[in-house]
Amino acid sequence: MPFRTRAATLTGIATEPVIEVKSLSKSFRKRKSRERVQAVADVSFDVRRGEILGLLGPNGAGKTTTIKLICSLLLPDSGRVTVNGIDTQRDRSRALGHISAVLEGNRNLYWRLSARENLYYFAGNRGRSKRQVREEVDRLLEQFGLAEKRNELVNTLSRGMQQKLAIAVALLAHSEVILLDEPTLGLDVETGYEVREILRGIVREGRTILLSTHDMSVVQDLCRRTVVINDGRVVVDDEVANLLRLFETRAYAVELAEEPGAEALGRLRAAFPAVELDRDGATPVLRVELEHAADMYELIELLRAGSARIEGLNRTTVNFEHVFRRLVREGVSYGGAAHAID
Ligand SMILES: Nc1ncnc2c1ncn2[C@@H]1O[C@H](COP(=O)(O)OP(=O)(O)OP(=O)(O)O)[C@@H](O)[C@H]1O
Ligand SMILES: [Mg+2]
Repeated sequence: MPFRTRAATLTGIATEPVIEVKSLSKSFRKRKSRERVQAVADVSFDVRRGEILGLLGPNGAGKTTTIKLICSLLLPDSGRVTVNGIDTQRDRSRALGHISAVLEGNRNLYWRLSARENLYYFAGNRGRSKRQVREEVDRLLEQFGLAEKRNELVNTLSRGMQQKLAIAVALLAHSEVILLDEPTLGLDVETGYEVREILRGIVREGRTILLSTHDMSVVQDLCRRTVVINDGRVVVDDEVANLLRLFETRAYAVELAEEPGAEALGRLRAAFPAVELDRDGATPVLRVELEHAADMYELIELLRAGSARIEGLNRTTVNFEHVFRRLVREGVSYGGAAHAID
C-alpha cells in the first residue's frame, strides 16, 4: 500500500504535512457581465498526515474551488499545491497518484453501471484488475451496507447509497489522501452518521481526509483541526477545541437585579456591539463577549454608572455554531488561541 501508518497517527498527533496549499488564488469571469469573481484569494493551509481536516465555510465561500484546485481539476491563477512535497503542476500524475476525490454532485459514478461494476471500472482506471480487487470490492460493499444493491444500476440507488458508493470508489484507489466535497450534504440523519463512521474508519487505517462542509456539527464531530474560509479567504486555521475555548473565555452572562435603563443600555451597546439583553428568565441577563479580559473593568464600570446591580457573573459555554456565526457572518476578528487570555 502506498500509505503508511505513522506513530503520529496512532497517538492522534498529526503534524507532518501531506498536502501543502500555498497562496492559491482563482477567479472566474461571470458569463454575462464578464465581471470577475474572486473565488479563492491567497489561500494557504496544510493537511497533516492521519487527520480529518475540515474546510468549513458558508455557501459560495470557495470550498469546492479549493478542492478542485488541489486535485488539479482547475488551474490556479497563482499559488501552488504540493502532495508529499510533489508539485501538482510540475509533476501532475505523480502528485495526483496520492489523492482521490469525491466531488459534490453526482458525477463521481458511472450511471449506467451497477454498484459493483462501478467499483471494478474505477479500480481499472487506477490500473488494478478485476481479479486483484474482487475481494476488496465485496468487502467494501458489505462494509458500506451496499451488498444487497451490488447489482443495481447506480441511477436507481438513493442519494445516500450513491454517496457511500462514491467514497468506496475513492477508497479502492488506495490513495493516501481522500478529498471529500460536502460528504454528508443532503443525507438523512442516519446515513449522515453512517458516513461519519466510515470516515473515522478511513483515518484509523492511516489515511488522511480533507473534507469540505458548511455544517459545523460535522467539523465538531470529526475534525480536530479546521480551516474556516469565507469570501475565498482563510478566516481561521486552528484546532476546534482552541476556537471553542477562545470564545468561551470571551463570553459572559451577567445577571442583573433589574433591567438597565435605555440610556445605560445605549452606552453598553456602543462599547460592546454584540451585547444582548435576555429577558426570558426570572432576572434579566446581559450576554456579552469581551475581546480582552481587561474589558471586564469597563463593562462593570458602565453597569455601575447605569445603577444596574450585578447579581451574578458567569462564563457561558459556546457551541461551534455560535463561533462560526461570529467569525464568518459577523466578521469577528480572530487572533488565534495565543490571544485568548490577553
Ligand atoms: N465555474 C465557475 N464560473 C464562475 N464562477 C464560479 C465558478 N465556480 C465557482 N464560481 C464562484 O466562485 C465562488 C466560490 O464558489 P464555490 O463553489 O467554490 O463555493 P463553495 O464554498 O463550494 O459553496 P457551496 O457551499 O455552495 O458549495 C462563488 O461565488 C461561485 O459563484
Ligand atoms: Mg461547494
